[in-house]
Amino acid sequence: MSRSRSPLKHPLAGKLVFTSDDLRWATPHIVAEWRAKRLQCGTIADLGCGVGFQLLSFAAHCRKVIAVEKDGRKLDAAKENANRLGLKNITFIHGDVLDPAVIAQLPKLDIVFCDPERLPSEKERSVASITPDIRSLIKTYSKLTDKIAIEFPPQMRAIPFDAEHEYISVDGALNRLTLYFGKLKRAERSAELLSSISPSPDSALGWAVLRGKEQEAKKVAKRVLNFLYEVDPAVAKAGLLGKLQEETKALLLSGGTAGAATQKAALMTSSKLIGSAFWKSTFHVLAALPFSEKGVKKRLEQLGAGNVVLRMAVDAADYWDVRKRFEGRGEKTVHLFRIGSDAVIGEMVGGGDE
Ligand SMILES: C[S@@+](CC[C@H](N)C(=O)[O-])C[C@H]1O[C@@H](n2cnc3c(N)ncnc32)[C@H](O)[C@@H]1O
Repeated sequence: MSRSRSPLKHPLAGKLVFTSDDLRWATPHIVAEWRAKRLQCGTIADLGCGVGFQLLSFAAHCRKVIAVEKDGRKLDAAKENANRLGLKNITFIHGDVLDPAVIAQLPKLDIVFCDPERLPSEKERSVASITPDIRSLIKTYSKLTDKIAIEFPPQMRAIPFDAEHEYISVDGALNRLTLYFGKLKRAERSAELLSSISPSPDSALGWAVLRGKEQEAKKVAKRVLNFLYEVDPAVAKAGLLGKLQEETKALLLSGGTAGAATQKAALMTSSKLIGSAFWKSTFHVLAALPFSEKGVKKRLEQLGAGNVVLRMAVDAADYWDVRKRFEGRGEKTVHLFRIGSDAVIGEMVGGGDE
């Protein structure tokens, strides 16, 4: 079993045992801690605990943890990891979480958590390809507690369960989707923003949270205004753009995408600068014009642009070739968006430029 370091996964990773594949499926430390605080209770069961990245945080925040895992190698690693961190409040059970013999060993539980196994790759993520079988798990464990939390792949669409859908982003990148059932449900949808860089402004938990009903942004701008905002992906994924619009009064830009084609981000705009924790980035709009390479290059030169960060759908392999075609000799770093048939050139407000 190898050891490797990944600060986002666990600050004590150097002390823990895991393979690179275990690490791929493990919950990052910042999320594990956040979730353990949300689910803090007397006795929690971690069903399919793997090598224990989430488990270790539960053990630090809950009185007692029951860890169930069908893979003996992973369970042994989880035990070793708990030992290395001096955690003594975990009971380990080797077996299938749906096996009646395993269920018979469980004490009275306050909360059940499951981070199931999914296929390494799938054309479209589906509930059917997740193990353990989620419907059976809900049916079985609802008899033991009315507080159940289950992780799903955040890319999954059309999830057929009545539960709070909580999308978590870490440093502006979508990271997790957790469904909270029964008494754990606090809203229909929530977007939780976690930051490994800035301390939380409002609480010891998340960095910023938006909760509400799934609601589209109804007010749409026909063209970009003075300021352009890239919305944190957790908000758009949670279907909370309408809620964000209520709070900020910014207009949605239709046809706007930022980043690679697969990482579409919602864009909003306003004539006056609006501050919001839910903006991943804010731009001052310097120019908007019909998109043509010649026209855009001319305008970039007039603006004194040097570095030109592309905020449009470009194949990763072609990114630097395309970018070089637009870059000039100026001092300014600007961002080039393609919104519908228009080019929008903006300067980032508040730094953070590449
Ligand atoms: C995504 S991993 C869990 C990772 C863990 N949360 C962490 O942070 O390290 C899912 C785990 O569920 C286990 N699993 C899948 N189906 C199971 C079942 N029916 N019973 C017990 N464990 C199961 C897999 O062996 C795998 O280790």
